[in-house]
Amino acid sequence: MRAKLLAVVAVVAFASAVVVVASARTTANGLPTYTDGWQKWPRINKKPFTSTGPLSSAHSGVKNVYASKRQVGARYPNGTVIVKTIVKPGTKYVGEFATMRKVNGRWRYIEYERSSAATRYSLLAQGSLCQGCHVMAKSNDFVFTRR
Ligand code: HEC
Repeated sequence: MRAKLLAVVAVVAFASAVVVVASARTTANGLPTYTDGWQKWPRINKKPFTSTGPLSSAHSGVKNVYASKRQVGARYPNGTVIVKTIVKPGTKYVGEFATMRKVNGRWRYIEYERSSAATRYSLLAQGSLCQGCHVMAKSNDFVFTRR
């Protein structure tokens, strides 16, 4: 019994260590590697848009949204990564990069920013702050943008 419990603890500890390592991996530009190739993912908004949605003061600028996997009914499969690129007013480069990644049925939200086209991205915000607003899009799997 005790050995079994220890084995479970060891597996859990190992699994979380792997998760930490995986989420810490970033590309040269500071974005996580799971966003690699987003430029080739299908865009889910029809046209670049500037509206800020229901009560969003967040995310202002010219925006596009790309998804790594297709929605099945209302749901996106596990492993889906959705990115939103934002070119802020008065600039010509992607200055904010918002991501959602579905892991074990739950979205993880992280947003990055940078101050020029040549600088690396750094963390802007993440977690429950994001989730708190995205809950308004619950009927579409927490994703506001629809094809
Ligand atoms: C106040 C509400 C609000 C908050 C807070 C918010 N979002 Fe959003 N988000 C939106 C809206 C509305 C959209 C739809 C596109 C738009 O209007 O920009 C959106 C779109 C997105 C998208 C594209 C997929 C989609 O749902 O359309 C991503 C990715 C995203 N947000 C990530 C984040 C992250 C990461 C955070 C936290 C750092 C965050 N959001 C915080 C309202 C919010």
